[in-house]
Parts: sequence; structure tokens; C-alpha cells
Amino acid sequence: MKNIPIILAPMQGYADFVMRQILTEMGGFDEVVSEFVRITHTVHSPSTWLKKVPELKNNAKTQSGVPCTVQLLGSDAEKMAENACVAVRLGAKKIDLNFGCPAPTVNKHSGGAALLANPELIYHIVSTIKNRLPEHTVLTAKMRLGISDTQKTLDCAQAIADGGAAALTVHARTKDEQYQPPAHWEWFATIKQQVKIPVIANGDIFSVDDYLRLCQVFTPDGIMLGRGVLKNPYLAVQIKSIINNQNIQEVNVKDVLKILRHFYQQCGQSDPHGNYATARLKQWLFLLQENFSSLSPLFVCIKNKHSIDKINKILQDFQAA
Ligand SMILES: Cc1cc2nc3c(=O)[nH]c(=O)nc-3n(C[C@H](O)[C@H](O)[C@H](O)COP(=O)(O)O)c2cc1C
Repeated sequence: MKNIPIILAPMQGYADFVMRQILTEMGGFDEVVSEFVRITHTVHSPSTWLKKVPELKNNAKTQSGVPCTVQLLGSDAEKMAENACVAVRLGAKKIDLNFGCPAPTVNKHSGGAALLANPELIYHIVSTIKNRLPEHTVLTAKMRLGISDTQKTLDCAQAIADGGAAALTVHARTKDEQYQPPAHWEWFATIKQQVKIPVIANGDIFSVDDYLRLCQVFTPDGIMLGRGVLKNPYLAVQIKSIINNQNIQEVNVKDVLKILRHFYQQCGQSDPHGNYATARLKQWLFLLQENFSSLSPLFVCIKNKHSIDKINKILQDFQAA
């Protein structure tokens, strides 16, 4: 099959630095994207940037060497350009622009998906940033199909391409559809025909079978995986195997537990009291149990626990059982 990049989706509150690290350690991913960094009327200080995207300290790569793209969200082209240049000075190689976030707080200030009503403003934002970035910095964008309908889908995609984006990720839903299935994969080919830049397919790729179904309607220039990989951390590795004509690795729940314990330990390193680490563990376990039903009793066991020692003991006993 055609070799294409597999990209970890930006996911605010889920795909943070630790999660990006853990998932790229497993292989399969060619790129990760940071959670969005919101730009309003200020220019973030270098220390804020390094806190939001710690990969910048490592030549914009995760510890496993997978490139990390910095995603910006905002509507003030000038401020976004200034911030993008700071991120580049700190090491960013690729900047992605968010034209898809459906969150009301963000949309109220004309950020994210709200911009899909205004292709001219999208063009202004993309072209302003493109013109200010050093030539070697790659600029990309990610969009939904529209706000409530698809009337401006192609205009927005064209504005992104005309503005100078090198690639476009399409989450094939409108803002109003939120995460309601199905994602409208038929739009990928229509957009690709219009824009002539690489189109990265995103939305509802939860399994190898989904990937194969996608390939029947569109030959993607890349795929972006979000919730699917949180529910099955082996998904990128499995799809990569299919692309490389290799056998798919069997998923073993003991290995998933090992990853989960590693994740808990890593989260705990930046959180001496453990509240954040414990919340993150419960959050991920809740998603994993959808795919690995044998983890449900573990979730029930720890969901009301707060002591790190007790939780570690439960994890250990569960793994040994
Ligand atoms: C919890 C959560 C947070 C998200 N945060 C972002 C974000 O920061 N930037 C962005 O462009 N998209 C964000 N998204 C959208 C995802 O990147 C992706 O487009 C969407 O989940 C569809 O892909 P999937 O079906 O593979 O999950 C988020 C999605 C979820 C579920």
C-alpha cells in the first residue's frame, strides 16, 4: 500500500506531552501535533511556549524522535504570526492552524470553527503567517467542513491553500455535528480535487478495517488518528503494519496495562501530589475499557481511589493476576 504519514491528532486535555511521548514510544506515528495554543492579544513568553510544547526543548521532537507540530488557535493574524515566529525561534519546524475547534469559549472570540464562516479571514490569517515565517518552516491547517452546513467548505479549503499552507487536514464533519457519526469521508476527494495540496484524512478511523474502508473512497496523503488511538494505543502500529504489508501485532491486555502504568508514572513525575496523574489515569482507563473489556473491573476498582500507593498496588495486582 502507499506509504503515508500517520499523525497523532491534537487533543486538548488528552494528547498532552506525556501522552504524546507514550504513544510515540510505541511506534507507528510519523508526527504528533500539540494541543492548541490559544493566541489572543499577547505574545507568549518563551517559558510559556516551552511549558505548552516541551518538545521544543528537544528540537521539536518527542523523546522517541517523532516530530511535533505546534498548533495555534486564534483569529488575530498579526498576533498569531508574532507568536508563530517565537515558536520557530524556540525550535518549531512546523506550525498548524486550527480552523475546527467547536468549543463555545473559543468560537465566541472568532477562533477555531467560527472562522469557517469567513474564508476571506482564513486566507488573511494563513497568508499573513506564511509571509512572516522563515522559508524553511512548514505551515499547515486543520479544518472542519463548516459551521452548520457545507456551503463554504471548498471556499475555506481554497483559502487555506491559496494562503500558502503546505497541507490540509480535514476533520470531515461540521462544527454543529460535534463528534456525531458518521464522518463524511466522501468530502476528502472533493476537497483534494479543489486544492491540489496534500489532504490528510481525519475522523472516525477507529480500526484497521476503518482505514481499509477509507482507502476505498479516498487515497489519503496522510491520516490523522485521534480518539481511536486513545481507545487502542496499538492502532497506529497496526495501520503501519498494513501499509507495510506486514502482519498485524496482536493486542495483549497485559501490554496495555504496562503502558498504562508507565503513563501513570510519567504523569506523576510532573505532579508530586498525584492528583493530576490519578485524574489522567482514570480518564485514559475509562476510554481503554471500551476496547479492552477486561479492564472494566480495574476501572471500577480505582475510580473512587485517590492514594497513589493504593492505585499502584491495584495496578500491580491486576497485572500479576
Ligand atoms: C478531547 C478532544 C480534544 C481535541 N482537541 C483538539 C485540538 O486541540 N486541536 C484540534 O485541531 N482538534 C482537536 N480535537 C479534534 C481532533 O483533533 C480530531 O479532529 C477529532 O477527534 C476527529 O478525529 P478522531 O475521530 O480520530 O477522534 C479534539 C478532539 C477531542 C475528542
